Amino acid sequence: MSRACRNIAILGSTGSIGRNSLEVIRNLPERFHVSVLTTYSNVELLAEQAQEFHPAVVVVLDESKAVSLRRSVPKGTTVLIGKDALLEVVRRDDVDLVLNSLVGFAGLRPTVEAIRSRKNVALANKESLVVAGAAVTALVQEYGVRLVPIDSEHSAIMQCLLGEEANPPAKLILTASGGPFLHTPIGEFGQITVEQALRHPNWKMGHKITIDSATLMNKGLEVIEAHWLFGLPPERIDVVIHPQSIIHSMVEFVDGSVKAQLGLPDMKIPIQYALTYPERLPLNGGRVNFPELHSMTFFTPDRSKFRCLQLAYDALAVGGTAPSVLNAANEVAVEAFLGGRVSFQRIPELIEEALASQIVRSSSALADVVDADHETRKFVRTLFSERVLS
Ligand SMILES: NC(=O)c1ccc[n+]([C@@H]2O[C@H](COP(=O)([O-])OP(=O)(O)OC[C@H]3O[C@@H](n4cnc5c(N)ncnc54)[C@H](OP(=O)(O)O)[C@@H]3O)[C@@H](O)[C@H]2O)c1
Repeated sequence: MSRACRNIAILGSTGSIGRNSLEVIRNLPERFHVSVLTTYSNVELLAEQAQEFHPAVVVVLDESKAVSLRRSVPKGTTVLIGKDALLEVVRRDDVDLVLNSLVGFAGLRPTVEAIRSRKNVALANKESLVVAGAAVTALVQEYGVRLVPIDSEHSAIMQCLLGEEANPPAKLILTASGGPFLHTPIGEFGQITVEQALRHPNWKMGHKITIDSATLMNKGLEVIEAHWLFGLPPERIDVVIHPQSIIHSMVEFVDGSVKAQLGLPDMKIPIQYALTYPERLPLNGGRVNFPELHSMTFFTPDRSKFRCLQLAYDALAVGGTAPSVLNAANEVAVEAFLGGRVSFQRIPELIEEALASQIVRSSSALADVVDADHETRKFVRTLFSERVLS
């Protein structure tokens, strides 16, 4: 975000984005100093990271792991415990930039606290914008901070829009790999196993987003994220399946011109760009070899087969707490699928039942979307608690 050395807090440093972020930072020692690292429970990896990067503070959410973490961090690193510690660390004076790579709704409060503490935010936690896009974007304006997306699609769109300040986009086109079940007949969705769903063709990611990619909910969440980041209505945000994942997204302008951003599917590229924006720095790694690509293909997603995508569009159109209900129902359903308690095809059904419930309200105030999240979790759990693999 600027040339001076910046102090960075990485929330969720033991996850897929967190680990990739530390790889980027390892190669930019003059640009970044790591002040804070956090984990839910992976204290072994967090201790290794602390030994290498010497943060002032580390946070663990799982209290039972704190004793072993205290024994293995370097001298001078403080260990804090619990959810509120995530808020405490983003407020610190030795943090200029917060990279939020937490997964799920748990990322929302730290995003809000970081903005209120006037910290710039590099945001991987798309759920912050899905659940509370109206409140988060209003806070960004109010506190005058910069929020830069890490999601490769939104990074691509942001890059396509550079230099186009006088030319509002006609349409955003998000690309999607289509996931592992692109060609699986819907009749076979009931038999999909967790292991099959975790096998993403192009990206190596955390479990929750990998399942979201298999249902196409991830693309639905990204449509909502794009709406809040770039201000276009849902009917001007398209999704196109592009199995090669080389074009990360596109912008169509009023004259019919289309700008696209391309690259190999490697999250270090959008992470580094979010950290050094608007500057580009060298990054080792593969490069697109166009003759070897042979072809790039595109087609329209089947929204009746991948109902999660349609449900996300529906929730965005309804507004208010509907996206929060969608997100909470999805988080509970995905966790239940990963735990073998519901089938793959039950995921969209549970979300649809939650969206049809009385929980949806017209308000998009922060307190209301948080209440909607909590109510939805309870509601969805009652829907499958008596049924196993229904
Ligand atoms: N992975 C990707 O390539 C990718 C691409 C684009 C966007 N994103 C987005 O980036 C975010 C992170 O994804 P990811 O794939 O990196 O997830 P991940 O691998 O599951 O990592 C999540 C991180 O958050 C911690 N965590 C989990 N639950 C928590 C909770 N309730 N409270 C506090 N910390 C918690 C985890 O700790 P433990 O290690 O102890 O579990 C881990 O450090 C998601 O919003 C995702 O949609 C990811």
